Amino acid sequence: MLSKEQNELLTRIEPGTPMGDTLRQFWLPAIRSANLEVDGAPARVRMFGQNFVAFRDTNGRVGFLDEGCPHRGVSLALGRNEDCGLRCIFHGWKINVDGQVVEVPSEPAGSNLASKIKVNHYQTREAAGVVWVYLGKEAEAPQFPAFDFVNHPIENMVPRKAVVQCNWVTLLEGLLDSSHVSSLHKDWLPTGKEMLSGPNAGVMGALSVVYEIEERPYGYQANAKRAMADGTQVNRKTEYVLPTFCLIPSTLKTLRGVACIVPIDDETTNFWTLSWDTSGPIDAATVDRLRNVGRLGKDPDNIYEPRFEADQVWGQDREAMKNGSYSGYPALPIEDFAVSESQGVIANRPAEKLGASDIAIIRMRRLLFDLVKDYQAGTQPAILSGNIDFGKIRPVHEVLAPTGTTIEIKA
Ligand code: FES
Repeated sequence: MLSKEQNELLTRIEPGTPMGDTLRQFWLPAIRSANLEVDGAPARVRMFGQNFVAFRDTNGRVGFLDEGCPHRGVSLALGRNEDCGLRCIFHGWKINVDGQVVEVPSEPAGSNLASKIKVNHYQTREAAGVVWVYLGKEAEAPQFPAFDFVNHPIENMVPRKAVVQCNWVTLLEGLLDSSHVSSLHKDWLPTGKEMLSGPNAGVMGALSVVYEIEERPYGYQANAKRAMADGTQVNRKTEYVLPTFCLIPSTLKTLRGVACIVPIDDETTNFWTLSWDTSGPIDAATVDRLRNVGRLGKDPDNIYEPRFEADQVWGQDREAMKNGSYSGYPALPIEDFAVSESQGVIANRPAEKLGASDIAIIRMRRLLFDLVKDYQAGTQPAILSGNIDFGKIRPVHEVLAPTGTTIEIKA
């Protein structure tokens, strides 16, 4: 349980908030690379309660700027992307990817006004089919979270996101909360029969979990242990990487993934999933089939479509439940989004009654509070030391025999 003040500190990320300032010190996914064509339409991007504009210039470089034109604030997302710069359509001022104003055609000939004006611009880099941005104050961006996806070509990647109408912490908690898997996701995971012999042996069947948490310089590894009816033990070791990355165990041999939660503002969140196949090219339909996640929306910029409001009970299908569906939802992450939104825009954590199965989210909150403290004290946390080998961080699915010997392991 948190106090009201702690809940505010944890959840609020808009400009001027301690958590918002802290999270801005990290590289985070901003927009799919495919959305930015050379000299194509610029895109509005909203993160941390601020509006930005992203574009790809004539030379293929990505610009990421504050949205408002420095002249009189017109959205640069309305601008013309041409000749290595974004030209505001109101009076024709032009800004390059470095934020430098390079032309002010509305000014008298010979004016040197352009050279004196620079727009806030932010460092970007591309990986996993996504433009990542560093919004922090330090001139030097921190170490990039180069997970294993950097070792594989872009054809092997499927980056997607969902726009969810709740605060970012609720979604991060859902990712780290392994104990809900046996209940909420019953429809998408193996039946009891498959449990004893199939590739996902043992994931289902035991509703209760015992957690073992090992701290890591980048966050923690949470081992959710389940004792199965056949005497085996299933260990699902989830990796939490500060501030908002999560690697969830899977039994799929070549498919890997990282989930990342990125606040749009205090009340809306982008839920990113970056999937890649280590064996070759892959598409979204194949990822869905392999992961058995049901019917997701087709828009890679928002797979949570169609979505429903609270007064429509988040679109839950009671007829489907009469016919055997457990949750009444057509896809695994959709039920995650529905339960998350149902907790309220900002969950009422002071009213929670937490148990031993909530230890992973309790630890996550503590790590985030520590991160804020470090930031305010000017102390460098281990995650920002530059010494993390992100490529080696792997979640683990493991089945142990009653004797303790390993029957199956997937890392
Ligand atoms: S408002 Fe953009 S050029 Fe005037």
